[in-house]
Amino acid sequence: MQEESPLLAVSHLTKSYDGWSRALDDVTFSLRRGEFVSIIGSSGAGKSTFLRCVNRLVVPTSGVVEFDGREVCTASRRELRALRRRIAMVFQHYNLVGRSTAVENVLQGRLGYKSALAGSLGIFTEEEKHRAFQALEQVGLSDFAYARADSLSGGQKQRVGIARSLVQDPLLMLADEPIASLDPKSSRTVMDRLRWAADELGIACLVNLHQVDFALEYSDRIIALSGGRKVFDGVPSELDDATVKAIYDGNHDSAQQLAEAEELAAAEEYAEAAGPAAGTAEAEGREGAEGGRPAVLPVRPASLAASEVV
Ligand SMILES: Nc1ncnc2c1ncn2[C@@H]1O[C@H](COP(=O)(O)OP(=O)(O)OP(=O)(O)O)[C@@H](O)[C@H]1O
Ligand SMILES: [Mg+2]
Repeated sequence: MQEESPLLAVSHLTKSYDGWSRALDDVTFSLRRGEFVSIIGSSGAGKSTFLRCVNRLVVPTSGVVEFDGREVCTASRRELRALRRRIAMVFQHYNLVGRSTAVENVLQGRLGYKSALAGSLGIFTEEEKHRAFQALEQVGLSDFAYARADSLSGGQKQRVGIARSLVQDPLLMLADEPIASLDPKSSRTVMDRLRWAADELGIACLVNLHQVDFALEYSDRIIALSGGRKVFDGVPSELDDATVKAIYDGNHDSAQQLAEAEELAAAEEYAEAAGPAAGTAEAEGREGAEGGRPAVLPVRPASLAASEVV
């Protein structure tokens, strides 16, 4: 049986902000449709950089990002806009317009589908409005549709953020520390909604988390970054205490060993899948991929037009 192509395929991704140190160092990773993957790692490990390279909020130094069969790094502006419609983003600090209602905030998720004029005038179809109310219902906030965003609790704000993502009809949701500002109970509610989106709507989720316990509980798979390198990629049951310790101790020697083991395992898996000749470095394309394909287009971070965000 032929294997389904991945929704997201990241190859040899490297990012250097300053031209010499590497925030991301040769990260290769793929994500299946509907899969829920958490990214863990200590502060500065490269988690946010990784997530932002996926939708080109950050332009990689080298490497390839393929989303739904299309190249993200070399996409034209128009193509990038189309790609970003299907890649929603949830932020640690919600990024809501505080003086707007919950439902108005949710409708912002439709902007990528509208002309600049219709968007700036806030013109939405009845169907879009219906969809926005439905999304609020899906995150358990029907009763708060007309509440101002700044009157909501942190957990409720984050659920509005998720509803805003849902109306984008995304194939992938990126969430950068979505529960870092929340208490444990609200964190659970938010994680439940993300997991639900993966299970019930088939939306793949890529979630940066500091809380290993949540990552273990909610993920299909976990990847760990340390010093910009991928040092673990496996199912939660494979993430033992020693590995967690090495990741969070910032013990780069141990992390390096893990990275090497990870690379070896990947090479073995590749060799197994592709036949005996594929096991060599040459056949794996390591040499060829080293330089990667440089990203050439400038990128403007997505921003809300409104001045007030919460
Ligand atoms: N815009 C930037 N310009 C320069 N360096 C940056 C920039 N963004 C991140 N870095 C650096 O890149 C490295 C990775 O940072 P990144 O924010 O991706 O890590 P992180 O794992 O998300 O950390 P945290 O858990 O604190 O959010 C760090 O050394 C950081 O200082
Ligand atoms: Mg971060």
